[in-house]
Parts: sequence; structure tokens; C-alpha cells
Amino acid sequence: VIDIRKLYAQAGVFTYDPGYTSTASCDSTITFIDGDKGELLHRGYPIDQLASKSHYLEVCYLLLYGELPSATELEVFENTITRHTMIHEQMHNFFRGFRRDAHPMATMVGVVGAMSAFYHDSTDINNPHQREVASHRLIAKMPTIAAMAYKYSIGQPFVYPRNDLDYAANFLHMCFAVPAEEYVVDPILARAMDRIFTLHADHEQNASTSTVRLASSSGANPFACIAAGIACLWGPAHGGANQACLEMLKEIGTPDRIPEFLARAKDKNDPFRLMGFGHRVYKNFDPRAKVMKQSADEVLDLMGIENNPTLQVAKDLEAAALADDYFVDKKLFPNVDFYSGIILEAMGFPTSMFTPIFAISRTVGWISQWKEMLGDPQNKIGRPRQLYLGPTQRDYVDIENR
Ligand code: ACO
Repeated sequence: VIDIRKLYAQAGVFTYDPGYTSTASCDSTITFIDGDKGELLHRGYPIDQLASKSHYLEVCYLLLYGELPSATELEVFENTITRHTMIHEQMHNFFRGFRRDAHPMATMVGVVGAMSAFYHDSTDINNPHQREVASHRLIAKMPTIAAMAYKYSIGQPFVYPRNDLDYAANFLHMCFAVPAEEYVVDPILARAMDRIFTLHADHEQNASTSTVRLASSSGANPFACIAAGIACLWGPAHGGANQACLEMLKEIGTPDRIPEFLARAKDKNDPFRLMGFGHRVYKNFDPRAKVMKQSADEVLDLMGIENNPTLQVAKDLEAAALADDYFVDKKLFPNVDFYSGIILEAMGFPTSMFTPIFAISRTVGWISQWKEMLGDPQNKIGRPRQLYLGPTQRDYVDIENR
């Protein structure tokens, strides 16, 4: 068997590839994307089949272990995740240390990073059992942490997880239930939430996943690595696009202003971009966006858009951009975050919660890639090279002579 990495290293090949547009950083058996065809497979299964026939925790199992679970394996996995949904009671104090108006992503970076201070018994990356427990804890606790960050930001008491509900319904419950009032999760909204989780579960070597891999290549503990992934995801060119997209729709305000914003997006002297459009890999319709659009239609039918001008602007903007030569020629289609923001807005989430919800979903992808990397005997610290363009060697000048 030829080890291509060794061959490259021996040949002393040096590539210069800003943004890694054509450099593979690892090999992987988890997710396959064909950007030209608009194809996304997890462990070989097409995303549209998983979104329509499976559900988030089953997809988590598939990503983590490589195969779809048997009924018993799924039951055991779901019970394990459910058992870990609570967070250490002392962590509540940690939330209370943040300003109320902190962005929930800022709180999540801090709280998830701090998990290594609360769960010492799952930080040893060389111990397979500890790795497994850390994986389960992260998948189980992320919705609880995100919901607590939200509740804290609006001044409401924390709502404990309900283990009789499924993963998505429990998250909605923790976000929207209020003590002393009955809250029943609508099954259509729970299904839409589960789809949002499923469609964001993994996406091979995107910026936040690569961040998790790079952080863990130094041997950092899993909670520190996932906190690094959350920090990277926050940026508007990545996971922060769903928030930025909804804010853009609100700024547009009314359908008659759409042409003005389309013109700005096409103007090369204006840094403005149509948020929620375009993708580094997909140069065809994002297959996740197709499913998400269908989900958005279901949720909008349920909630109604007559009284929601933002959702009306979204529908009209999508139609206008898809009929515009600039977007068609550059293959700039709505991406998954264009529709996810619309669904989350209709469900009643504030825009600041959009990226935390993405972080919940992507946690399993980060962990699956982290586990794969640690299991690779070729794993070594990530250390990109650079093309140095600074001054050549020169002598130090004393301050009085400068
Ligand atoms: N609006 C207007 N023009 C755009 C847009 C957009 N949203 N996206 C790309 N373009 C144009 C660029 O100006 C460029 O035009 P040029 O060739 O005339 O210079 C061309 O399309 C190619 O764009 P690049 O920036 O080179 O493409 P890249 O692959 O680097 O960027 C990205 C992809 C970051 C997603 C980009 O399309 C973008 O900024 N989109 C808006 C933000 C967004 O929605 N991000 C979410 C991504 S999905 C995710 O993270 C889950």
C-alpha cells in the first residue's frame, strides 16, 4: 500500500493555497460532497434520504460509528444521550457570571470550554472509554447549554431537560417552556427542528471542523477543541450567516427594496453580499437547502407569513435572485442557512440563537471527525507552512537612531 502522505513529504512538495481551495488536509470516511452535482453523503447515505427517513440521533450514531444502528443499538444510544442531558449544577453559576446581554455564542464558547473544568473524567484523549463519554456528554449537553444561554439572556429561569421528549422536542421545551405554564411542543415544529439538526450534522472539512481537527492535533482535550470549533463557526462567512441573513432581510424590510439590495450585491465597489447565497463547495443547489426549503414551507404554512414581513421579503428575494443573471451565472444559489433562518424566525427564536442552534447540530460532526483523527496512526500536529514575503535579514537600530 502506498502512503501518499509519506511520498509527498519525501518529495519535499510545498504548496501555496490560501483558503485551502484545493488542498486536502486529511483523509476521511465520514462525509462526501460533490459540489458540482449538489450531492452530500454521510457514510454513503444521501442527505435527502436521511432527512426524510431518519432522525438526528440516528444520524449521530451513523456519523460516529460508521453504520446505521440496529433497533437495539439505537435504543441504547438514545438512552445514553438522554442520561447525559443535565449539566453539573455548579455550572449554573458559570452562566450567571456573564452579562445578560452577552451573545449566546460568546456564552457557549466559554461554557463548553469550561466543561473540561467540570468533567475531568473524560478529558484523557488516550483513553477510549473517556473519549466515548466525552462524545456522549457533548452531544447530550449542547442543547441544554444553548437553551440555558438563551433563557439567561432573556431573564427567565433555566428549564431542566425532559428526558421523556426526543432530542429536538426537548430543546424546544427548554427554550420555550415557562414555569407554571403548560407548554406542549408542536410535532410539526419538533420535526422541523430535528431536520435543522440533521441537515447541519456534518459537512466534511469546513472551517470549524478544520479548526477542531487542528486544535486536537496538539492533543488538546475534547471540550477545548469543540469550544474552538464553536468560536470559528460564529463568523458570518460560516455559521453566523444564518443570523446575518435574517438581519439582512429585516434591513431590506419591504419587497419593493429588493432590487436596491440586489444591485448592491452585484456592485464590486460595495462589500455587501447577499447573505445566505453562495457556497465554497456547492456550485449547484445545496442539497440541504432543497430539504430545508420544503421544511420552511411546512412551518410557514403552520405559522402563517401574512403578518410577518421578513418572511415575505425572504420568499420574494429568493425568487428575484434565482431569476437574476448575476446569481445564475456565478452559480450563487440559496444555501442551507437562507432557509434555516426563516424557519427559526417563524418558530420564535431571536436571530442571536440561530448560530448556537447550528453549533448544537454540528457538534456530532466535529466529534466524529475528532474521533477519526485520533484513531489515525498517521495523526500528527497540524502545522501549515507559509510563503514569507517580509524583509530579509537586517540589523537592529537603536531607538535614538530611528
Ligand atoms: N452575494 C454576492 N456576490 C457573491 C456572493 C454573495 N452572497 N457570494 C459570492 N459572490 C461572488 C463574489 O463576489 C465573487 O465574484 P467575482 O468572481 O466577480 O469576484 C464570486 O461570487 C465568487 O465568490 P468567492 O468569495 O470567491 O467564493 P467563495 O467560495 O470564496 O465564498 C462564501 C463562499 C463565503 C459562502 C460566499 O458565497 C459568501 O460570502 N456568501 C454569503 C455568506 C454565506 O451565506 N455564508 C454561508 C455559507 S454556508 C455555511 O457556512 C453553512
